[in-house]
Amino acid sequence: MIVEGDVLAVLPTLDTGIVDAVICDPPYNSGGRTAAERRRGSSRDKYTTGRRGDLRNELPEFPGDNRDQRSWGYWCSLWLSECLRLTVPGGSLLVACDWRQLPAASDAVQAAGWVWSGVVTWVKPRHRSRPTRGGFWRQTEYYLWGTAGPVRTDHEVYLPGVVEATAPAATERQHPTEKPLELMRELVRVAPPGGTVLDPFAGSGSTGVAAVAEGRRFVGVELSAHYAEVARTRLAAVQPALDAQEA
Ligand SMILES: C[S@@+](CC[C@H](N)C(=O)[O-])C[C@H]1O[C@@H](n2cnc3c(N)ncnc32)[C@H](O)[C@@H]1O
Repeated sequence: MIVEGDVLAVLPTLDTGIVDAVICDPPYNSGGRTAAERRRGSSRDKYTTGRRGDLRNELPEFPGDNRDQRSWGYWCSLWLSECLRLTVPGGSLLVACDWRQLPAASDAVQAAGWVWSGVVTWVKPRHRSRPTRGGFWRQTEYYLWGTAGPVRTDHEVYLPGVVEATAPAATERQHPTEKPLELMRELVRVAPPGGTVLDPFAGSGSTGVAAVAEGRRFVGVELSAHYAEVARTRLAAVQPALDAQEA
């Protein structure tokens, strides 16, 4: 199910304790390393490369990528608190971020009341950037792992702390920051089979498609009418598989 609306308006309307895992990829608001990068107002230009006229540049912008780091951290703690209320005791949270936002994101997770329990690293073996001369290749992103109190013991699963996956090709993706299904299928397994996964920043619905493919239920929230429709279309294509499993 995809609900179109602002995360801070939609989450308070949902019942307490209905979710087994929250897995999300909020707008990173991570600015840039140079003044020129920080001046880029467009989420599409920031997260994609290539000439005008390329398919990747025709993807619509997405909202919410304009906060500075302090206000981003404060805003995250607001919706993360609501996510905690919605989650069963011991359920998990996974929040995506890049290296620049790791400190602010970990503060927000804990300020919201989650127990910070670790970090899952997503390695992009064919990342489009190059290794930095004299330094390291920034070919990773992170999912901060939090739990609603002590981690649950009724879902026996052992998941990897490092996942390798290549982002969808620019010519194929339906969202500027679309996550690979390979990665998402691994992450959704933190919810038990038949459990419910919430993604409050659903984008093109990658978390939902992975959840359904792995036999989990899905609730997504998305502010952009365009991307809410993309997510609904992708979910409609996979939902019959879950219905068949449950029949
Ligand atoms: C980084 S993208 C998520 C991409 C997604 N993981 C995928 O694979 O397609 C973040 C999404 O959050 C949405 N968004 C931004 N602000 C929001 C808000 N206040 N409430 C709900 N969704 C919001 C944006 O429209 C964008 O699609």
